[in-house]
Amino acid sequence: MTAPSALVTGASRGIGSLIARKLAASGWNLTISARSAGPLTDLAAQLSGDHDGTVVPVVSDMAHEDDLHRLAETHGESFGRLDALVLNAGMGSIGPFAEFPARRFDKLFAVNVRSAFVLVQRTLPLLRKTAADHGVARVVAVSSMTGIAGEPLNSAYGATKAALTSLCETLNTEESQAGVLATAVCPGYVATDMTAPLADQVSPDLMIDPGDVAEVVVSLTRLTGSAVIPQIAMTRPGPHLWRA
Ligand SMILES: NC(=O)c1ccc[n+]([C@@H]2O[C@H](COP(=O)([O-])OP(=O)(O)OC[C@H]3O[C@@H](n4cnc5c(N)ncnc54)[C@H](OP(=O)(O)O)[C@@H]3O)[C@@H](O)[C@H]2O)c1
Repeated sequence: MTAPSALVTGASRGIGSLIARKLAASGWNLTISARSAGPLTDLAAQLSGDHDGTVVPVVSDMAHEDDLHRLAETHGESFGRLDALVLNAGMGSIGPFAEFPARRFDKLFAVNVRSAFVLVQRTLPLLRKTAADHGVARVVAVSSMTGIAGEPLNSAYGATKAALTSLCETLNTEESQAGVLATAVCPGYVATDMTAPLADQVSPDLMIDPGDVAEVVVSLTRLTGSAVIPQIAMTRPGPHLWRA
């Protein structure tokens, strides 16, 4: 039997690279994507050297529809099954609601939401086939606590993550009986490049460890398809439960 396979977006660094590392260490075949070729191909070479599985790097921009089509097709041609579509690539941007540029809002939606919608559509036939052959196939989206509860300066980013979580919910209502299950993992601040500009407000030591987010994502792939888990919230220790 062929090894399970995953397509992980935003895998060149941060949470996505840790998800890729954990899956590769478990013998999975991977397609990994990001815009920057260097870190992506370096990671693919390292994981292919260290583990048994095949790792295919595909340079792609989540804002470019052609790239999304090519990414989905490359994965299908390479592996012929898709056990986990990990929708991790994303961009952050904060600013007051009153002044937030609409063009920036559109870019956030293209990268954080539209890409997920297109990738699910393009991979759904393979996800369904994998579920039929192997019992379950998963979509895991790295969403955000700001998509569960609004916070100052996060009108656009939070709205993208609420939309991403909603896509997972609806996908479950339509596809879970066919074995395609979706989960939105919703962390508060995670110590990665994305939150580096916030370091003077929240120490990275007090943020969520990116390895813990990756572990939650990967743990979903070890479950049978008996339970739908639409959403997992992760917050930092402290008095506020629903805050990044
Ligand atoms: N850090 C947090 O506090 C936090 C909290 C909750 C949720 N999240 C979410 O977790 C996910 C991963 O974030 P992270 O903290 O690991 O961020 P990160 O360290 O900045 O990594 C982001 C990844 O996405 C890729 N990426 C960014 N824009 C892209 C685009 N337009 N097309 C393709 N790939 C793109 C980056 O590679 P390239 O730049 O090479 O393209 C990189 O691999 C994101 O969806 C983020 O919204 C983060």
